[in-house]
Amino acid sequence: MKLLLVLLCAFLAVSSAAKKSSNVKGNRQPNIILFLVDDMGYGDLQDYGNPTTYTPYIHRMVKNGLMFTNMYSPSPVCCPSRAAILTGRHQIRSGIYPHGVDPSSLGGLPHDEITIAEGLKDVGYTTGMLGKWHLGVGKNGSNLPVHHGFDYYYGIPYTHDACPCSVCFYPDVGCYQNPATPSTCHPAEEFVGCPIIENKSILQQPVDLLTLNYHMTNAGTNFIRRSAASGQPFFLYFAFHHTHWPQFAGKMFRNSSIAGPFGDTLREIDWSVGQVFEALYETGTYGNTFVLFTADNGPDLEQQEYGGSAGPFRCGKVSTWEGGFRVPAIAWYPGKIATGRTTKLAAGYDILPTFFNLAGATIPSDRKMDGFDLAPILYNKQDTERTIIPYFPENADPSIGPYALRWKHYKAHFYTKGGNAPPTHYDVLCRNTTELTAHDPPLLFNLWTDPGERDPLTENDSMYYYLLEKMDELRTDFMNDMEWHTSFEEDGEDDSVQPCAKPGCSPWPYCCTIDLLNNPEEHSSNRL
Ligand SMILES: *[C@@H]1O[C@H](CO)[C@@H](O)[C@H](O)[C@H]1NC(C)=O
Ligand SMILES: *[C@@H]1O[C@H](CO)[C@@H](O)[C@H](O)[C@H]1NC(C)=O
Ligand SMILES: *[C@@H]1O[C@H](CO)[C@@H](O)[C@H](O)[C@H]1NC(C)=O
Ligand SMILES: *[C@@H]1O[C@H](CO)[C@@H](O)[C@H](O)[C@H]1NC(C)=O
Ligand SMILES: *[C@@H]1O[C@H](CO)[C@@H](O)[C@H](O)[C@H]1NC(C)=O
Repeated sequence: MKLLLVLLCAFLAVSSAAKKSSNVKGNRQPNIILFLVDDMGYGDLQDYGNPTTYTPYIHRMVKNGLMFTNMYSPSPVCCPSRAAILTGRHQIRSGIYPHGVDPSSLGGLPHDEITIAEGLKDVGYTTGMLGKWHLGVGKNGSNLPVHHGFDYYYGIPYTHDACPCSVCFYPDVGCYQNPATPSTCHPAEEFVGCPIIENKSILQQPVDLLTLNYHMTNAGTNFIRRSAASGQPFFLYFAFHHTHWPQFAGKMFRNSSIAGPFGDTLREIDWSVGQVFEALYETGTYGNTFVLFTADNGPDLEQQEYGGSAGPFRCGKVSTWEGGFRVPAIAWYPGKIATGRTTKLAAGYDILPTFFNLAGATIPSDRKMDGFDLAPILYNKQDTERTIIPYFPENADPSIGPYALRWKHYKAHFYTKGGNAPPTHYDVLCRNTTELTAHDPPLLFNLWTDPGERDPLTENDSMYYYLLEKMDELRTDFMNDMEWHTSFEEDGEDDSVQPCAKPGCSPWPYCCTIDLLNNPEEHSSNRL
């Protein structure tokens, strides 16, 4: 199989050079852009019903694109969701559970996983990534994006809350986060200042968050210009650090929204989307680029007014109620795909097969894939092969499996547990104090008539007994088909793998400083 792939790649490399990047079907390979927003809820964008936020460039995408109302993130938290999106497989198969990957984690995304970037590179794409990676740094940066198929990388390789706060935020305003949880900012003794890494070099440490998104966006538009000039098709994975707490926004966006700091953050995201589209116009790649915009999980209710909104759905990030999983998604490819709105079922792990088929890449056949090509939705608003959505909690456990399962428009909760909302949250089911509860029989909901999951079906519903049996059967089949990879956590932690611009310096971690963005002459051994 490997040999076949190599041969196929060699053939494609030759034929793409000859035919000026054509896929196997003889069509021109489209450029592909994936925008992934962190912790943005279903109810945060104006096009998804938010009455206050303002995101005109995203709105333009919606007007010319296809808006999904039944898109699911693979997980209610960041790392597993990213692993599943990039591999087209449940995070369980790559071991990205039961917690988030730390800057000092030795493990991360296993190297034998095939990422979207690797698959597209094989068929002639140049691949770039911006922003939040969060799938490991590893010894000498061995787990960074450039070792998982990305030719180019620019950003903080994890979340910007894994840095000492004091140097990161508006000096005059402080940390934009829930004042009830200031201690959740990681203290400086634990982690080095967040680095901006380009490929494998540290450009700035600690990061200046006020200019981070600006620099990252420029790195992205430069990548588009370089790629367009080279004539190679490109894949750009733009993983915003926004809207994870603490909120930040560049000068241009401070107080730019009446929706407060969270609204400012959304406006900064929107600006970046606008800049990327501008670069597409400028380089003449506008007509041949497929763009998908989505989020990694629901809103962070712990942050209260500094976090997002799940709109009509219950709970948010960390939770297996709909608010944790249902995310906005907009596909854009004018003249090529359907426009308007689709209610068809889709999930983050469907992205890989969709991109591979657009590009003419081969979907790996030596392993179980969990995603389905979204083409039937994109072209005809028809169902894909997807029939179920499993809801794994953050701390997935083989003896329990997914807490819930959706089949058609029905959902069964076999287990429920509180989310990360404060103990004062109005909805007891979302509070972080609400314990794990098994439900036998499971709680059943009709998501069409009851999207907020308020009113469980009863024995008096004609579907009740049928659904109990069906859901149980689907869950058993699903569990039997799941292979649990050992958790990345088994590889342990080592502070020395944290990116430091001056390896071996002291006192660690404060001495890890560099600022090539403002002082280009500064010298250091900043390469990982
Ligand atoms: C990391 O890089 C350093 C310096 O180049 C080298 O001495 C060390 O052996 C490397 N460690 C690993 C695990 O490759
Ligand atoms: C990063 O990698 C890309 C692609 O290999 C290369 O063009 C670029 O010069 C590199 N940049 C740095 C700062 O290493
Ligand atoms: C934002 O606006 C508020 C209210 O008008 C004002 O008090 C605050 O100083 C402004 N903040 C910044 C960073 O400009
Ligand atoms: C729940 O959140 C509150 C702050 O909102 C925090 O003080 C508390 O430790 C959390 N409890 C649990 C069990 O996580
Ligand atoms: C089912 O309907 C019967 C008859 O109306 C009623 O007595 C019973 O309480 C209902 N059961 C539930 C669980 O609502």
